[in-house]
Amino acid sequence: MTGPRQRDLLAREAVHLAPGASEESALGGRVFTDGAGTVLTDADGNDYLDFAAGTLTQSLGHCHPEVVAALTAQAQRLWNVHDFATADRAELCELLAALLPAELDTYAFFSTGAEVVEAALRVVAAVAPAGRNRVGALRHGFHGKTQGARMLVHWDIGNQSLAGNSVLGYSPYCYRCPLDLEYPSCGVRCADLVRRHIADKPNISALVFEPVLGAAGVIVPPPGYWERIGDACRANGVLLVADEVLTGGGRTGTFLASEGLGIEPDLVTMAKGMASGFPFAVLAGRHEVLRQPETERAGSTASTFASNPLGISAALATLTVLRRDRLVDQVRVLGDVMADRLAVLHERHPVLGDVRGLGLLWGLEFVRDRTSRVADPQLAGNVYRRALDLGLRTALGGHILRLAPPFTLRPSELDRGLDLLDQAITEATEVGS
Ligand SMILES: Cc1ncc(COP(=O)(O)O)c(C=O)c1O
Repeated sequence: MTGPRQRDLLAREAVHLAPGASEESALGGRVFTDGAGTVLTDADGNDYLDFAAGTLTQSLGHCHPEVVAALTAQAQRLWNVHDFATADRAELCELLAALLPAELDTYAFFSTGAEVVEAALRVVAAVAPAGRNRVGALRHGFHGKTQGARMLVHWDIGNQSLAGNSVLGYSPYCYRCPLDLEYPSCGVRCADLVRRHIADKPNISALVFEPVLGAAGVIVPPPGYWERIGDACRANGVLLVADEVLTGGGRTGTFLASEGLGIEPDLVTMAKGMASGFPFAVLAGRHEVLRQPETERAGSTASTFASNPLGISAALATLTVLRRDRLVDQVRVLGDVMADRLAVLHERHPVLGDVRGLGLLWGLEFVRDRTSRVADPQLAGNVYRRALDLGLRTALGGHILRLAPPFTLRPSELDRGLDLLDQAITEATEVGS
């Protein structure tokens, strides 16, 4: 429950704060003051297991001591010198080269997910052959709220879409297949239709996609989906731009989700998993794409906060720990435990229409019943609130709850979090029935 101190703070800020907060913060009504590892503490002293890892940013948990030390040291030395080189930048480049597939050897640094997606779109526009003036995207994809990113997003999230000059393909949303087919007898027809689009439309310069669609509720593609689409893009000279703002940095059990799914992108955007919650984003690409006369124009990778020393040091510390402690391996181990435990919850609660995920990224779809599959956002909201009251923070979006805990989560915390979720679903369902 929200206590007196939190209620007071929320009432004071409500006088001035513009509306439009996320569903989860509006419904949650909490004021958090501290975070350590997987645990968050609110202003009334209540603790929560954070199974949303900030906003999928805290791969190392909250306030990892080595990241705090690196940021503190940097904060005492230098904060902003435009995009001049600083002492840590060369090392960060070398570390990224060691973590990423060898062909993704060229990098530019930004501050947010939308900003790095815009940077990728600028590269696409710069290198596109004459006449290729459209970009392909997937239904249910999310790429940010700036105008260029918004152009690729054809559903209402945040505020109204100005979705425009992009061509849409089917996403691999098996639970709600738009073609009313079932895997595997469908033969992954959705991918064949995307493939046909790509082959038939000579004006597409790039396909911008999330390998696993995160914001739409963790849509995991079936085997064969990306192979077919990737081949079609290669054969037709369409650049593959993997938006790994959410998945990049190990969340799905490989450093890039693309690697686990057999995709070989030309450009990759990453942000959430890069710098432990400090605003920082990375554009990675093949040198033959990023080192062309069209993309080398002065200023094309610069902005006020791009490449800033604090972000670089937070990223260097985060990725150093991730690599040294082999945390991506841990994601796979914990992800298997999570898969088993969630399968039991799926079995036990008929209101869970679908449970799907990879590594430490899971989506739970709440429905009125399994036959009609009608989405039940009210129940999902009730489960979300009940879980918070019990001491578990998850991520809510419509009728879907996402679970994405830190990679440093202890097995006992994983168990406890899923026990609390089980209890929250039981109690919310009983109240609703
Ligand atoms: C795949 C993807 N791309 C882009 C963005 C936009 O990032 P930001 O909110 O930092 O602008 C998000 C945010 O959730 C995302 O999940």
